[in-house]
Amino acid sequence: MRILGIETTCDETGVAVVENGTQIITNLVATSSQIHRKFGGVVPEIAARAQVELIIPLLKQSNINQKTIEAISVAYGPGLVGSLLIGVEVAKSLAVVWGKPLIGVNHLVAHFYANWIISNEQKRYHLITPKLPAIALVVSGGHTDLVLVKGHGNYKWLGGTLDDAAGEVFDKVARALGLGYPGGPAIDRLSLIKDHNTHSNVHFPRPMINSNNFNFSFSGLKTSVVNYINKIGFKNLNKAEISTEFQNAICEVLVIKTIKAASIFKVKSIIIGGGVAANSQLRFQMSNACLKLKIELNIPKKEFSVDNGAMVAATAFYNFKQVDPLKLQANPGLHFD
Ligand code: KG4
Ligand code: ZN
Repeated sequence: MRILGIETTCDETGVAVVENGTQIITNLVATSSQIHRKFGGVVPEIAARAQVELIIPLLKQSNINQKTIEAISVAYGPGLVGSLLIGVEVAKSLAVVWGKPLIGVNHLVAHFYANWIISNEQKRYHLITPKLPAIALVVSGGHTDLVLVKGHGNYKWLGGTLDDAAGEVFDKVARALGLGYPGGPAIDRLSLIKDHNTHSNVHFPRPMINSNNFNFSFSGLKTSVVNYINKIGFKNLNKAEISTEFQNAICEVLVIKTIKAASIFKVKSIIIGGGVAANSQLRFQMSNACLKLKIELNIPKKEFSVDNGAMVAATAFYNFKQVDPLKLQANPGLHFD
């Protein structure tokens, strides 16, 4: 079954066609992130206008064969209301005009379904889709959530951030270091070039690392980094050293809590999704922890970690709940069911 997936929750516009939830037929992503860069973060009004400009050219470029598409899916929340509306209204229009079923997808759920997409390289190594039950860690610009995925469509939210999301903290710390937006990739790159043989005197806290729940809190960590920057003075900063210690701190918390959830619920695999899943230190630390625990780890390729339409179509395939196109509404505050 071929499903069209539309993603417009923030500053990326994604259009994809996916077969049987796993095989990419088309996957195009356009972004307005370069415009937001000079403002140090996403400007909702600009993001929404960019969605309007990008979605129709992207649909045209996708060369979609209407006859072979069996359903249309769209991420209807959470996200920025102006951006969400564009994708939702386009999907509703297509569903009505083409007479195809419409499926509304939760963007956060879609982030972990990115792990069901099988790339050509993975096919070569006969890799299979994730085993369930699983613990899903969703780490994006707006969210940090741990979810128990018992089966398709059967999720239990275990906990999330009490303040800033992981990606948001990466972005804010990067801004304080003068690294621009988006901050995650910049901090990741700087940490890779740090000389790991030299001893570092910088130490930041690992908030709630031993707390008796699955919640997170990152604003204290962010404040520690900012206070350190102010104490040392911007001109004297060793940005690579600060980036490395900050990144280690946040990754350690994410890994310890995810592994704890995996052990308690005795799951078969861990699946990670969201922009921060692209982080090399998180991938490294989580891989090591999973090896020790003998638990399977699934992380999407970088192109499927960030926002894209393919993950939306994959989710729709495994959660095929048709909605009335006249009733589907963008839901900026949507959470896990
Ligand atoms: O999932 P996503 O593309 O959009 C949202 O739904 O928010 O995530 C964007 C976030 C940004 O905060 C960005 O800084 C972060 O993902 N990010 C990273 C990396 N690549 C993107 N964070 C850490 N390391 C990376 N390599
Ligand atoms: Zn996202």
